Amino acid sequence: MHWLITALTLGLRATTSCATETYTEPTAETVVSPLVRQKAEERQKIIDAQYKCFEKMYRDQPYNKTGPYCNRTWDGWLCWEDTPAGTYTSQNCPTYFPDFDSTEKVTKYCDESGNWFRHPETNRTWSNYTLCIAYTKDKLKMAYILYYMAIVGHALSIASLLISLAIFFYFKSLSCQRITLHKNLFCSYVLNSVFTIVNLTTVASNPRVVERNPVGCKVLNYFHQYMLGCNYFWMLCEGIYLHTLIVVAVFAEEQHLHWYYLLGWGFPIVPASIHAVARTKYFNDICWMSVETHLLYIVHGPIMAALLVNLFFLLNIVRVLVTKLRDTHRAESNMYMKAVRATLILVPLLGIQFVIFPWRPENRLAGEIYDYIMHILMHYQGLLVATIFCFFNGEVQAALKRQWMQYKAQWGQRRKEHCSMRSTSCTTTSITEVPVYLYQPDCNSEHLNGKHSEDYELVALKSQETYA
Ligand SMILES: *[C@@H]1O[C@H](CO)[C@@H](O)[C@H](O)[C@H]1NC(C)=O
Ligand SMILES: *[C@@H]1O[C@H](CO)[C@@H](O)[C@H](O)[C@H]1NC(C)=O
Ligand SMILES: *[C@@H]1O[C@H](CO)[C@@H](O)[C@H](O)[C@H]1NC(C)=O
Ligand SMILES: *[C@@H]1O[C@H](CO)[C@@H](O)[C@H](O)[C@H]1NC(C)=O
Repeated sequence: MHWLITALTLGLRATTSCATETYTEPTAETVVSPLVRQKAEERQKIIDAQYKCFEKMYRDQPYNKTGPYCNRTWDGWLCWEDTPAGTYTSQNCPTYFPDFDSTEKVTKYCDESGNWFRHPETNRTWSNYTLCIAYTKDKLKMAYILYYMAIVGHALSIASLLISLAIFFYFKSLSCQRITLHKNLFCSYVLNSVFTIVNLTTVASNPRVVERNPVGCKVLNYFHQYMLGCNYFWMLCEGIYLHTLIVVAVFAEEQHLHWYYLLGWGFPIVPASIHAVARTKYFNDICWMSVETHLLYIVHGPIMAALLVNLFFLLNIVRVLVTKLRDTHRAESNMYMKAVRATLILVPLLGIQFVIFPWRPENRLAGEIYDYIMHILMHYQGLLVATIFCFFNGEVQAALKRQWMQYKAQWGQRRKEHCSMRSTSCTTTSITEVPVYLYQPDCNSEHLNGKHSEDYELVALKSQETYA
């Protein structure tokens, strides 16, 4: 389970705390801070490190293993411990310089006779710092790309979600519990995206604001954490709703939505507030931007739990679905396709992709590809969900078409005698809603279009009321 948690946080962190590591990187060069001051700071850091190093060399136990070894030493930038002969030793790059990448490694070789490696050109002992700056340019470029990708993704998500919300609110014929849940989920997406964009553009890419460390950026951080929680807990709500509908199926009538509201909008206040208090007390860094603290688990822990619960729901739903399909159409090959399609539709809705791909590969290229994929999944999820659950929704399309026909008719001074905007209350039983939800995501089209038995599996499923 540990791999899951670490990797998932990495993924989540990349979006949440505006990925200080990734996104502030571009600022290192954009800010033209006085060079002199920077140089003085660098020198001071190095002097401090040197002092600590000599202290440590003095304090440490003498080398007590057998065989030749290289003496502990200070190479001018980093401190090295006693090292057995014939081995490479390594540690992370120092953070003195903005173009040093502290996630890369410095290596130092102790040769067979117990002397530190000397560079052939200068004949002086030499540590290999080449990797510290080897990828800085590429990483900076990638950070920029990811930064703009995130902004564009969230902007597109906001636009599409707002259009979807307008459609949901305008067409009263669409209103039903499922759509109500969608509306809330979409709202949480919009707010989360708004906070992410504001955070990225005003704080993460703006060192002058960060330097002043205003209270405002912590407040923003708090609301951002809260909205992030809301977003994932509304996904959990969708999961609970669907699972109740399909698997439990005891509440054939309408479910009580106020519990969902409490869970979706109310509960995330708790982790966000605890995180804020704990952060103030124990890790009160500038703008709460650092991701180097376990306190973030206060927010991300519940989110991960929600995602795991959703994964369980999804598996259970798929299980029930396959069982039912097997019962109703025996030995049909496309039944698996149907199950797969239903699953794929539900994955973005329930946020499952963050549970499925939690490990970032070690390999450099694979890691970069992984970063891109994760960023797309994260920042374009709102767009994806709006597309699947609104624009591709058969009922929404039908409502839009009707509206369009009506509009055309009115425009042509020919009133249609029959207003097609019949409002149907969402009294469909759970069992009819389920397959519709899964196969062609529309709510009560059979009422609207008068087609009752077009979807024969729907009928088949309807006939079976109880299942495990
Ligand atoms: C060497 O020192 C370490 C601690 O400084 C100790 O744990 C280890 O047992 C020692 N080994 C020998 C061979 O004395
Ligand atoms: C390592 O350090 C010890 C004590 O400081 C010294 O006696 C010894 O000569 C040094 N060895 C080398 C190879 O510099
Ligand atoms: C390099 O320096 C060491 C010690 O300073 C010396 O013993 C050695 O001969 C030098 N090697 C070359 C190639 O100059
Ligand atoms: C330093 O490390 C890099 C990367 O591992 C390697 O390509 C290079 O040959 C090393 N330089 C020396 C002088 O050993």
